[in-house]
Amino acid sequence: MKNILILGGTGFVGAHVCEKLVREGWRVTVLTRRRSNAQHLLPLPSTTVLEVDVHDEAALTRALTGQDAVVNLVAILHGTQESFDKAHVALPQKLARACVAVGIEQVVHISALGADALQPQSAPSMYLRSKGQGEAVLMQAAIGAGADHGKHAGFELTILRPSVIFGADDKFINLFAKLQKIFPVMPLAGADARFQPVWVEDVATAVVRSLARVGASDAKTPRIIEVCGPDVFTLKELVQLSAQLSGVCEGLGRPVIALPRWLGQIQAAMMELAPGQPLMSRDNLDSMQIDNVATGKLPGLSSLGITPSALRPIAQDYLEQNQPSYGLTGIRLRSHH
Ligand SMILES: NC(=O)c1ccc[n+]([C@@H]2O[C@H](COP(=O)([O-])OP(=O)(O)OC[C@H]3O[C@@H](n4cnc5c(N)ncnc54)[C@H](OP(=O)(O)O)[C@@H]3O)[C@@H](O)[C@H]2O)c1
Repeated sequence: MKNILILGGTGFVGAHVCEKLVREGWRVTVLTRRRSNAQHLLPLPSTTVLEVDVHDEAALTRALTGQDAVVNLVAILHGTQESFDKAHVALPQKLARACVAVGIEQVVHISALGADALQPQSAPSMYLRSKGQGEAVLMQAAIGAGADHGKHAGFELTILRPSVIFGADDKFINLFAKLQKIFPVMPLAGADARFQPVWVEDVATAVVRSLARVGASDAKTPRIIEVCGPDVFTLKELVQLSAQLSGVCEGLGRPVIALPRWLGQIQAAMMELAPGQPLMSRDNLDSMQIDNVATGKLPGLSSLGITPSALRPIAQDYLEQNQPSYGLTGIRLRSHH
């Protein structure tokens, strides 16, 4: 049995990744800031949850000792420049050093479509720029750049760049459906932005398959994979589809009012002032200045032998059933469909 460490394993994607890894026979250790965030993982067999500050490099190095591989799913969607740097750049930096120090064989890093390791600063938002910088840091370390001829130099690296991810416990399609149940109209910023939504189970499978590379002749070359579904939608189409599938106004949904960019920025700035995580931030709007669809210049899910699932039938299933938002029973039921 091989050992794998998961950073960000308690989140939306992480829970699916952990479950798939366990099924594939991995012994999983999940690091979390708060054990209570991992309640839904506790029933999983061969899984250990540890409360560890992943930003503490010494603690991270200790947690990596004895592991064969690591998956990094830690990210934030909203924040300041400093918080993006900490989560998306400094953490991959510490992770890379720790992996080299203890001789980790394989690293799978979840980035985002629109991030660019070669030209991080060309991206339109703090989120995407910091994601690109994080990719670059890991790629340098993976090829052993700057290594001082110690025992270990480099590691196998797969970077996955998903478009927006959907699934029964997503905060995306579900949120649009919920909002339309409450509000009579949908003022929508970035209505024309294009996305290529990918199913969370396909993303989790991509993580697991990325780890099956050991021993391949090109395994030491870092690879980047675009993780996208089969269909492209505008944000407006996704809002309308969520209403249709959840039966809001007998499937007609609410009128969607596309906001011009300046008004969208004002709306987002006001949302940022509300307590808790904002529904939308100005930085999210900045991300939407570029299409969130596969460039086609990089390998996609087919390179991992995955045929991505379409959004409509899966979202219809979970929006109709209004399933519980978390919990392995829910995840198990859904993944057996
Ligand atoms: N969801 C999407 O549509 C989407 C689209 C494209 C890319 N992605 C990428 O996919 C990955 C997983 O996304 P997700 O939707 O599963 O995210 P998520 O549900 O927000 O989970 C992220 C996890 O990261 C940990 N985390 C958050 N902030 C942290 C911080 N400041 N320091 C340390 N740990 C922190 C949390 O773990 P604890 O609370 O247990 O510490 C949390 O479980 C991310 O890299 C994300 O950028 C997601």
